[in-house]
Amino acid sequence: MKNLEELFEHQLKDLYSAEDQLTKALPKMVENATDAKLKKAFEDHLKETKNHKTRLEEICKELDINPKGETCKAMKGLIKEAESFMEEVKDKEVLDAGMIAEAQRVEHYEISGYGTAVRYAKELGHDDIAKKLKKTLDEEYGADDKLNDIAEKRLNRKAK
Ligand SMILES: [Fe+2]
Repeated sequence: MKNLEELFEHQLKDLYSAEDQLTKALPKMVENATDAKLKKAFEDHLKETKNHKTRLEEICKELDINPKGETCKAMKGLIKEAESFMEEVKDKEVLDAGMIAEAQRVEHYEISGYGTAVRYAKELGHDDIAKKLKKTLDEEYGADDKLNDIAEKRLNRKAK
């Protein structure tokens, strides 16, 4: 990578790989979730994730680059961790709580990735692309907030 444009392209490919991996991992989390709200949150985020992937495809088309061909190793690790957790834990309540934690790790990773990408897009003068990336960034924040709410409600229920 020799310049910011290339670094930006690398970030986009990394995010594309992350979203792609997530579309394959989320159905398992939907399946494993017991709490109805949590299940719904995972389902909703699966739909959003598919949109995020499409959005990145559109952006890459605009920039005339191929989004495929890179593997986001960080997302791979996060998913692997979530998968082994789901295999190991049998207690439904613990499973729900732990999946929230794993999913929030994923969201925070994506938030940092999209935050950077928005900044680079602005710096490079790709204003429309920056807007698209910001839309995804906001949805990642939204997903994280929703998970926070569910976790807090669990805590409140437990306290009663
Ligand atoms: Fe996403």
